[in-house]
Amino acid sequence: MTAPAALNPLPAGAGTAPGPVLIVEDSPVQAEMLRRVVEGAGYEVQLAGDGAAALALARERRPAAVVSDVNMPVMDGYELCRRVHAEAGLADVPVILLTSLADTRDVIGGLNAGADCYVTKPYDEAQLLATLRTQIDAPSPPSCSAGCPPMRLRIGDAVHEVRPRDSRQLVGLLVSTYESAVYQNRQLRSVQDRLVAANRELEESNRTLEAAYAELRETQSRLVQSAKMASLGELVAGVAHEINNPLAFVLNHHATVSRALAQVGAEARPHLTPERARLLDKAAERLTDMAGGLERIRDLVVKLRTFSRLDAGEIRTIDVAEAVESVLTLLQHRLRDHIRVTRRFGPQASLECYPGPFNQVVMNLVANAVDAIDADARDGEIVITTSQEAEMMHIEIADNGKGMSDAVRERIFEPFFTTKGVGEGTGLGLSISFGIVRQHGGTLEAFSQEGVGTRMVVRLPLRQKVPAAATNTGAQT
Ligand SMILES: Nc1ncnc2c1ncn2[C@@H]1O[C@H](COP(=O)(O)OP(=O)(O)OP(=O)(O)O)[C@@H](O)[C@H]1O
Ligand SMILES: [Mg+2]
Repeated sequence: MTAPAALNPLPAGAGTAPGPVLIVEDSPVQAEMLRRVVEGAGYEVQLAGDGAAALALARERRPAAVVSDVNMPVMDGYELCRRVHAEAGLADVPVILLTSLADTRDVIGGLNAGADCYVTKPYDEAQLLATLRTQIDAPSPPSCSAGCPPMRLRIGDAVHEVRPRDSRQLVGLLVSTYESAVYQNRQLRSVQDRLVAANRELEESNRTLEAAYAELRETQSRLVQSAKMASLGELVAGVAHEINNPLAFVLNHHATVSRALAQVGAEARPHLTPERARLLDKAAERLTDMAGGLERIRDLVVKLRTFSRLDAGEIRTIDVAEAVESVLTLLQHRLRDHIRVTRRFGPQASLECYPGPFNQVVMNLVANAVDAIDADARDGEIVITTSQEAEMMHIEIADNGKGMSDAVRERIFEPFFTTKGVGEGTGLGLSISFGIVRQHGGTLEAFSQEGVGTRMVVRLPLRQKVPAAATNTGAQT
């Protein structure tokens, strides 16, 4: 606590030694703090722990002023004030009461006790010393022997009788009460300003927190997605492997059986009854059907393998436009006459990638676009756009097909999710493509509006950061 330098110590007076400032406080810690403040301003200080002790000290040596707590054991501040002013030699000793001023009735109590002024607790040192100095330096008031007449004041529901010592005490106490209120108001305002600033900071932190939370949720969903894909990849790889061995075996034997049946059938046919010959033909037909079925299983195994591990081969620099053209050639039979393909290829077409998987992505996207366009539509269109931005290649495949509902769009990258009929779609095209694009360090996004069309956007880095091992074969997605 620092004392204001401008304060003057107790004036020497006209020949009489100035008395001490009598501090009356039952809390030793509070008493010690008060003593330091008042002594720091150059006043002599005497301490008393309660009203009775204070009165005894004041009788021994007349104090220049009394600074007293209100709530104390033995004798409270009001009673002390009354007794001090009742003593012949102490009647004009100013009494400053320290109070929290939490209740309007405190003012009535102070007035009736003859207190000169209030200082609110927690006190401001400068305000306390300024009050003390004013009380000590003020010239003696003209005596008001008759005293002020008692007044009846209504505060809230109660009527109080007020008996001020004289007009000076009345005005002095009220003004000091007002000063304290002003001081407290100022304190409150500064607290309010700090609160507003803290609130603003809190809002800002809240916004940052919300953004971090959203990012966390997104990262989490990406992690879950990639974990799902990884474990599914393992499962699918196992299934594909288990199917592949017996499939190879069945395909070989199917070929052998077909050949044998053809040979034996040719030799035996002249000797067969018409019924047996029909049976032979039926067996040959069934073998052909089986070949179709086995072919579809083989296709599926190839897709499953690509899904589980990117059959990468080597990274090469390809011409994107050429790659797209080759895919379109392969899909020509599916484009038929009803779909027009518009090419908007940008000038820069070089891209570093695993060519096989890259072609597969384009193939899957174009095939989906074809499927989305009604076979009877006359104005079906697929627009393929390539462009380069910064270090990324953008490939966009847009169609004016049936589009997707939000519910479908949310699930299209899930393996085996399909809206196509049995035998028409496996639901692996986009999940495979998603894995391939991510393996290249790129992104695949879908924008769609039901009944209007779909835009699939692939973004790939122009250059691949080649991990030596990745050129080997498919790193797991
Ligand atoms: N361009 C598109 N327009 C409308 N729906 C689409 C489009 N592309 C994909 N879809 C929807 O996403 C689903 C999943 O597509 P995905 O390519 O993964 O599997 P699929 O085409 O059904 O089967 P396949 O394994 O033969 O590709 C499709 O069944 C379809 O409902
Ligand atoms: Mg597909």
